[in-house]
Amino acid sequence: MTRIFCLIALLVFNSVSFSSHSQLRKLIIDCDPGVDDAMALILAMKYPRFEILGITTVFGNAYPDQAVKNALTIVELSKKNIKVYQGASKPLRKPLDAPPDFIHGTDGLGNTRQPDPKITYQSKSAAQFIVDIAKANPGQVTIVAVGRLTNLALAIQLDSSVTKTIKEVVFMGGALLVAGNVNPVAEANIEGDPDAADIVLTAPWKVTMIGLNVTTRVKLNDEILSRIKNGNKQYGPFIYSITRFYLDFYKNSNHLTGGFYVHDPSAVMYLIDSSLFKIKKGPVRVVTDGIAIGQTIMPVLDFQFGLSPWTEKPFINAAVEVDTRRFLKTYESVMLRK
Ligand code: BDR
Ligand code: CA
Repeated sequence: MTRIFCLIALLVFNSVSFSSHSQLRKLIIDCDPGVDDAMALILAMKYPRFEILGITTVFGNAYPDQAVKNALTIVELSKKNIKVYQGASKPLRKPLDAPPDFIHGTDGLGNTRQPDPKITYQSKSAAQFIVDIAKANPGQVTIVAVGRLTNLALAIQLDSSVTKTIKEVVFMGGALLVAGNVNPVAEANIEGDPDAADIVLTAPWKVTMIGLNVTTRVKLNDEILSRIKNGNKQYGPFIYSITRFYLDFYKNSNHLTGGFYVHDPSAVMYLIDSSLFKIKKGPVRVVTDGIAIGQTIMPVLDFQFGLSPWTEKPFINAAVEVDTRRFLKTYESVMLRK
């Protein structure tokens, strides 16, 4: 009798885990393509268990019109029917900085000068799209944000119930207890709109941060990229060509050897396999003015400081470690999947 019960329990368990695995995870990808944004989009498009409900774009690595054009170029390459929504063209409060064309090229795609896409973006704004699609799929939509967090902050300002209808936000940005990449303490996506970032990180929704402290633990190299170029005819040659300029930047300016950082795909990798990362929970605030503008701070010690800007703020999940070897293996195997 006990054996029969165990057998039934095992069958039920297996069918539950199979059906939950077979359900597609619904995503919105908010990005500023950008070389590594393009790689994040392609990774998500290649992973079979994601359903991309829409792509939203934001100023950042390229001027707004170029960023949306680049997203459309990647959708065309994918031959998928994914709609693209243009978002914010400037930060909430601070002035707009010029795009970092020395990293991503003046076209945002490593100066590869892609032909103009034939498809166009939707007339609805990115923030409105986020609010509407979350309402239509309550508790089911995950936002993967790999640019400035302006569109997410605008969505909250448009309709604060979006923090209840969105399932989770996973973003690439910030730097916990490591050097920044735009000033000594700040990472570009956060420093690019610190007010938006502070709104998003202190809102009552589930947020996971994939910061520079983990993205700079992983270096992609030309060996892997060449294998993807040869083994993935649809996306491999495109990724290889857009990464040439980006790779040179890391070689020449950052004196990086053995590859380059793949910041944005890391946020997608977290959703592919969260066990690649170790997570620490706590409130994170963003410095919105002054010489440390854009710094992301999570209290290091557990003791109470009395009332502080961190008091009673929601805890977020912050990645603090990554399994580099397994990350690269998983990335390559998804990209080479037939
Ligand atoms: C982030 O800044 C951008 O240049 C990259 O696309 C990435 O999102 C890394 O700091
Ligand atoms: Ca980006």
